[in-house]
Amino acid sequence: MSERVTVRQIQEKKRKKEKIVVLTAYDYPLASLIDRCAVDIILVGDSLANVVLGLDSTTQVGMMEMLHHAKAVRRAVKRALLVVDMPFESYQMDPSRAVANAKRFVQEAGCDAVKLEWFDRCLEVTGNIIKAGIPVMGHVGLTPQTAGQLGGFKVQGKDATSAQKVLESALALEKKGCFSVVLECIPAPLAEIVTQRLSIPTIGIGAGKGCDGQVLVTHDLLGLFDRFTPKFAKQYVHLNNSIEKGVTHFCNDVRRGKFPDKAHSYAMNPEELKKFKKESK
Ligand code: KIV
Repeated sequence: MSERVTVRQIQEKKRKKEKIVVLTAYDYPLASLIDRCAVDIILVGDSLANVVLGLDSTTQVGMMEMLHHAKAVRRAVKRALLVVDMPFESYQMDPSRAVANAKRFVQEAGCDAVKLEWFDRCLEVTGNIIKAGIPVMGHVGLTPQTAGQLGGFKVQGKDATSAQKVLESALALEKKGCFSVVLECIPAPLAEIVTQRLSIPTIGIGAGKGCDGQVLVTHDLLGLFDRFTPKFAKQYVHLNNSIEKGVTHFCNDVRRGKFPDKAHSYAMNPEELKKFKKESK
């Protein structure tokens, strides 16, 4: 087994100018495959709501769902740093529950760190979780849990005032002690400036190539989710086509009596079969 990636190693990558690779995972089989590909960080994202559970908003998943999936991913991940998204209900609905909920992700699911999206009490909550000894990844720019307040799923920081807000939020999170920060859906030149101004790594999604690392939702990358595809989500393979092909083939084989064949069935000793047939009459 190769050694586990640590928070310190992630931070060193920025100093060494090595790009950080982050992908989401929600279950055991995909988490194992991704971990074998040597990604640096695996994120149990609350995008679980959209790409796995068929819900419309990430605010619709809670502690129960996130813990359930984080545990499955933990069983699979041997190498990458394991980060979990704190669901909306766990820290924005009642900030006083945030530390206790973050502790559950570490103690019950074995996660290495938590990720929190920016909101009005973000600095206070982040500071409390870090004081409790849990590493925190920040998330600024487009924050899906509060997308309604941002005017929907739109690029953030397009004008000087809102760009300044993104930069200030990221700087404040660094000051609070976050070990890295996700920059979602902001103009590439802004992400580049934020990345230069921060000493902690920035992980971009829809934020151009000037970030210290990149994250994608795995289901987007693999072509497993096509209900909604943002501009920044590049499909590297089209697994939905392969899956549809395989499932259609199976349906046809069953309907034509071609499956299961001899190779996928169990034989019986002919003498025993004869005996059984006789006795069972
Ligand atoms: O939930 C998620 O998958 C995320 C990434 C898009 C960063 O937060």
